Amino acid sequence: MFLEQTVGLGSTLRCRSRVLCLLIAALAAPAMRAQKVTLAVDAAKPGAKIDRNIFGQFAEHLGYGVYEGVWVGRDSKIPNTRGMRNDVVAALKALKVPNVRWPGGCFADEYHWRKGIGPVDRRPAALNPNWGGVIEPNTFGTHEFMDFIDQIGSEAYLSVNVGSGTPQEAAEWLEYLTAAQETALAKERAANGHPAPYRVPYLGIGNESWDCGGNMTPEYYLSQLKAYSRFVRNFNPEQKDAKRMLKIAVGPGGDGPRWTEWTEVVMKAWQGRSWSWDMDGLSLHNYTVVRWPPAYKSTGFGEAEYSQILKSTLEMEDLVTKHSAIMDKYDPQKKIALVVDEWGAWYAPLPGSTPGFLVQQNSLRDAILAALNLNIFARHADRVRMANIAQMVNVLQAMVLTDKERMLLTPTYHVFKMYLPFQDATFVPVVLDRGTYTHGDISLPRLDAIAAKDEGGKLWLALAHLDPSQPLELEVSLGGFAARSAAGETLTAASVDSINSFDAPGTVTPKPVAVKVQGAKLSLRLEPKSVTVVSMAP
Ligand code: AHR
Repeated sequence: MFLEQTVGLGSTLRCRSRVLCLLIAALAAPAMRAQKVTLAVDAAKPGAKIDRNIFGQFAEHLGYGVYEGVWVGRDSKIPNTRGMRNDVVAALKALKVPNVRWPGGCFADEYHWRKGIGPVDRRPAALNPNWGGVIEPNTFGTHEFMDFIDQIGSEAYLSVNVGSGTPQEAAEWLEYLTAAQETALAKERAANGHPAPYRVPYLGIGNESWDCGGNMTPEYYLSQLKAYSRFVRNFNPEQKDAKRMLKIAVGPGGDGPRWTEWTEVVMKAWQGRSWSWDMDGLSLHNYTVVRWPPAYKSTGFGEAEYSQILKSTLEMEDLVTKHSAIMDKYDPQKKIALVVDEWGAWYAPLPGSTPGFLVQQNSLRDAILAALNLNIFARHADRVRMANIAQMVNVLQAMVLTDKERMLLTPTYHVFKMYLPFQDATFVPVVLDRGTYTHGDISLPRLDAIAAKDEGGKLWLALAHLDPSQPLELEVSLGGFAARSAAGETLTAASVDSINSFDAPGTVTPKPVAVKVQGAKLSLRLEPKSVTVVSMAP
């Protein structure tokens, strides 16, 4: 008979006696000793502002993302405010979500806004052919969405229907939403309960128009873009000039010649634009998915799948760099933002879940994945000025999961919360010994880090430590910053596939970490497979 003894993550000894196990574990112990790593922060060389919009969310009419996840209806036993569940609203409010992209996704190119306004009992039931072919009751429509973002303190990023709609339909939606003068559409809005014009700061012109949004060529899409950009206007009087509505064009969906061509065509046309059309952003969609259809499990996996998924997610850096370089050719002043408005992990659906509902769990691996992507966006802060993780509630890499009256915060939620100080902070360069983490034939950087200075003068450090077995002793030297005190919190758990479940919702939660400050030096221990955020006060 064998006994099992754990000596570190993923390292389980099988031995014939307890004494033998302990002996082998003791011999293995030096390998677990923390390695020393250095990192230098140069606070005297501030970079671009990390736009808080990179912490945006995406809420599509898909599975339980909106219905049940956000909207339970006014008569629900689940505590709600005008139909929106209070627990989810409170959790999202705490994240200071800068913008929410709605209503899709593929759903947006089949959405007709008129079906979602007016008395609820008179709204037509439609279908959601993209996502399970279920009934779309249209009970959550324009007014409900605007109320929801108001409740969580966020802003609207509307995706208009280019695939099966018309510029007229989209133009009328925006007039309905934003007109202050007494037009027929503004009066209809008032009759439906909202006399004041709504704010719509961000407008997406189509979604994946190269695929579910209409299978368009870049040239065909461009002609659509020009018409929508010309006619879909924002009339809200408070949103003039700098606060106007930013228009985001459909951009590439990955790596390879097809996508570089798409970026080239749209950016070149923008450079040679006439007065009558414009855009402010180009979207980029990139999911972390190793195989299609997604086959990797979101729970119950080991180090092989952990390292493979992190390798795949790190491709975002290269993708952003490549498309930014094309954009630089046509827009050296970086007027157009690269908007990564769909990103995150896409795994196999949970066994037994409704097909097409994209239900998956969320583990410590996803927390590290989220930190790595946020760090990439921050490093490209001069170009990447908006991003939306897919998706906010109950779908793909969600912030929160719900099950009837229960709700849990995912490990990804905790990373977004820990990164709050980076919203609108100024990027500060770091030089670090990234080291290498190897598993099988996969080699990845062991450590990833960013630094930023907030408006109050505090310096912040975010560290993603990928190695699941080896702790690190980190020594930070601070250039151009004298820290009087420092504090930190870290997110880790027993294994890379640790999750928060409805029965154990606190398995993966941040804990305080000890940080030593001595003059311009800072030191702390980084646990294996962890995300750590450190604040330093002057
Ligand atoms: O997020 C799920 C889907 O992924 C979106 O609807 C679509 O835009 C993308 O392909």
